[in-house]
Amino acid sequence: MRAALDAHYRPNLKLAQAHGFGGYNCGYARQRGETSFAQHQRDLVWRVLADARIGPTTTVLDIGCGIGGPANWIVERFTPRRLIGLEYCWSSVRLAAQGAARHGISEACAFERILAGSNRDSARQPLCFVQGDAHHLPIADGSIDVILSLESALHYADKRRFLAECRRVLGSGGVICLGDITVPKTKSIGATLLRGLSAPFKSNAILWSAESYRGAFAAGGLAVLRHEQASPHVADSLADALDEVRRRGWKAARGFRMRFYYLSCLERLLRRGWLHYDLFALTRAE
Ligand SMILES: C[S@@+](CC[C@H](N)C(=O)[O-])C[C@H]1O[C@@H](n2cnc3c(N)ncnc32)[C@H](O)[C@@H]1O
Repeated sequence: MRAALDAHYRPNLKLAQAHGFGGYNCGYARQRGETSFAQHQRDLVWRVLADARIGPTTTVLDIGCGIGGPANWIVERFTPRRLIGLEYCWSSVRLAAQGAARHGISEACAFERILAGSNRDSARQPLCFVQGDAHHLPIADGSIDVILSLESALHYADKRRFLAECRRVLGSGGVICLGDITVPKTKSIGATLLRGLSAPFKSNAILWSAESYRGAFAAGGLAVLRHEQASPHVADSLADALDEVRRRGWKAARGFRMRFYYLSCLERLLRRGWLHYDLFALTRAE
C-alpha cells in the first residue's frame, strides 16, 4: 500500500517541483484566472479551515499532510503552539520537514515512528512530521484542538475508523476540518471513472458520497458545523493549473504528462457533477 501511494504521488511531486506548488491538493478558485494555482492551493486550506480558530495555544493535527505545504502555511500564518503533520509515505514526511526550512521554520523534525521512548520529547517540537496511518493515530486522547484532513480520506479503506480516531484525539470544543473528493451517489459513474483513472497509478480511491459522510458523522458522534459543496471552485482551480502547465509547454511536462490527463479528467468530472468536492467542519456531538 505504501509503495502504491508513493508511486501514485511521484508524478504529483514532479509537477509540484516543476511549478513550485507546495501541496498536492486541487485548490479553490473564487474566480477563474484571478490568481495562480499555487495561491488556489493555499486558498483551499483557508476555506476548509474557515471554522477553526488557530492561535498561540492551539494544537493542530494535519492528517495526510503530503509534502507539507498546508502545514507550513498554517504555521507561517497562525503560529499555533504545535502542529503535527501525519503522512503515510515516508518520502513525503521527509520532504515536508525539509520544506519547513524554506518557510523560515527552523525547528521542524521528521519521524518514521513516533511517540515511543527517546523521540517522545523531540516529537513535542512546535512543528513535526510523522509517518503514520489515519486509521491508527499515534496521538493521545483529547490532545488536539484542530484536525485538518484535506483530500486524503479518499484513500482510506475504513473511513468510519478514521472518523472514530479523529473523535478520540479531539479535545473538547475542538474542530475537524475535512475536505474530500466525493461522489453524488456511492454507486455512480464518477466513482467508477475515478477508480479506472487511478488504476494505472496503482492507487486506491474509495469515494464516499456526502450523504454517506453525514450518516457516518451522526453515527460516530460528530456534529456538522458547516458543509460546503465546493466543486465549481475546485474545477476552476484545476482549470487554472492545467493552463499553467500548457503555457510552459509539453516538453517541460516530462515526468507528469499522464498526471496532466488525470487532472483534466478530474476537472471535467467535477464540472459535470459526476464527482463532487465537499468541505465539512465538525465537532464532537455531546
Ligand atoms: C492529495 S494528497 C493531499 C496532501 C495534503 N493534504 C495537501 O493538501 O497538499 C493526499 C495525501 O494523503 C496521504 N495518505 C493516503 N492514505 C493515508 C493514510 N492512511 N494515512 C495517512 N496519510 C495518507 C497520501 O500519501 C497523500 O500524501
